[in-house]
Amino acid sequence: MEQNTELFEKIRKQFDFGPYPRVPIEKTPEDEFEKLYLHNLTTAYYIRNRQFISPESKLILDAGCGSGYKSLILAHANPGAKIVGVDISEKSVELAKLRLQHHGFNNVDFFTLSIEDLSELNLQFDYINCDEVLYLMPDVNKALQVMTSVLKPNGIIRTNLHSSLQRFIYYRVQKLFQLMGLMDDNPEEMEIGIVREIFDSLQDTVFLKNSAGEVEKPGKEPKTDEQILANYLLQGDKGYTIPELFRALEDANLELISMTNYRQWDIKALFKDPENLPVFLSLSLPEATIEEQLHLFELLQPVHRLLDIWCGHQGESQPFTPVSEWTDEDWQTATVHIHPQLNTPQVEAELKQCFQQLRPFSISQFLPITGVSPSALDITVTACVIPPLLKSPQSLASLVERWLQVQPLNLETLEPNEPEEIFKHLQSLLSGLEASGYVMLVQGS
Ligand SMILES: C[S@@+](CC[C@H](N)C(=O)[O-])C[C@H]1O[C@@H](n2cnc3c(N)ncnc32)[C@H](O)[C@@H]1O
Repeated sequence: MEQNTELFEKIRKQFDFGPYPRVPIEKTPEDEFEKLYLHNLTTAYYIRNRQFISPESKLILDAGCGSGYKSLILAHANPGAKIVGVDISEKSVELAKLRLQHHGFNNVDFFTLSIEDLSELNLQFDYINCDEVLYLMPDVNKALQVMTSVLKPNGIIRTNLHSSLQRFIYYRVQKLFQLMGLMDDNPEEMEIGIVREIFDSLQDTVFLKNSAGEVEKPGKEPKTDEQILANYLLQGDKGYTIPELFRALEDANLELISMTNYRQWDIKALFKDPENLPVFLSLSLPEATIEEQLHLFELLQPVHRLLDIWCGHQGESQPFTPVSEWTDEDWQTATVHIHPQLNTPQVEAELKQCFQQLRPFSISQFLPITGVSPSALDITVTACVIPPLLKSPQSLASLVERWLQVQPLNLETLEPNEPEEIFKHLQSLLSGLEASGYVMLVQGS
């Protein structure tokens, strides 16, 4: 085992002492819609190729699964998939096993194993989730290479690194406590107590105390033991920048698919008038590579703790035409899918209520995605589009037909609605729903 060093043992001990996350075993993620959306394979595959795939029978690895809460989210979000979890902390693996069992998921396997030894499983995965782990590993490139070697062709890895620009203050705090010897062995209750005492005794004007948010304020909760361990005393924690992330991907023959929270990495949104940028930028930005644009963003606005990405084998992404550039012919041959995370009994129950009370359907309530404005669909529009999509994917022609049945007359003129007009109307409606993540539009099928 390559990582069998002093650091490896410290990390293992730390998570045996406090398996992460400390989420009660009974807690279900069923109402954590955004997390389910993020962990749903269909989301990532659509973003990569604008294709729709079902998670049925797919093999998913949760690499560094911890206490298994994310494995549980993966299992909920991907019905019919098999989940395999590995972690170096035996205590965490035990908890993960219990958790999935408690929630009735049997198509799962957990192993006490290092990511570096993944080849021992003799398995190839469709999707690898490696969340909040990579930044602890001594050799990120090596870890990515190993994961690449067990990723099927067209498979997708979701992983993340800590941002050195966003977390700079925590790295400074960690240095301080390393210097004091608090991280020489595994930090436990005693070390956590010492950290609290030191911050309490410092003057509020001390830079480190202030910047770490340790100055008491009304209504502000003190950090929990878990937060102290995960930030101030985290063994092996390292920070990275966008260029460093890109070099690590290149080294592992991987390519970026997208930031998972790509809607929050928009440089233009940082400007007062996004459509009227300073001339230098309006000329240079369109020429900049994705790496350059993301790096520019993190320098201007280092607000994201994680550089959280989907990536895949180099050269596998298939070209597609963005919906905004589709011709009428593209629309005519397209298939509309509702996001599977919206195809739930809760949505059906809410729709029933909306139809009975003739009130708008607040779609974003069931799929709230950060960066997407809350939205509600008018009840007639809802009736035209949502029920058929919940039954099966639809063509534009079938949605036009349904629209003409639900609303045969033009509301303004009371003349019969024209199919061509409805076709245009649907194009604009579906483009908006697609940009928000609620529907997926697949070309030529
Ligand atoms: C911060 S926790 C994240 C747990 C889980 N992925 C989550 O996001 O909730 C990091 C986990 O990575 C595990 N870990 C660290 N190095 C590892 C390695 N080389 N192989 C497998 N797991 C590792 C730790 O034991 C710990 O459970």
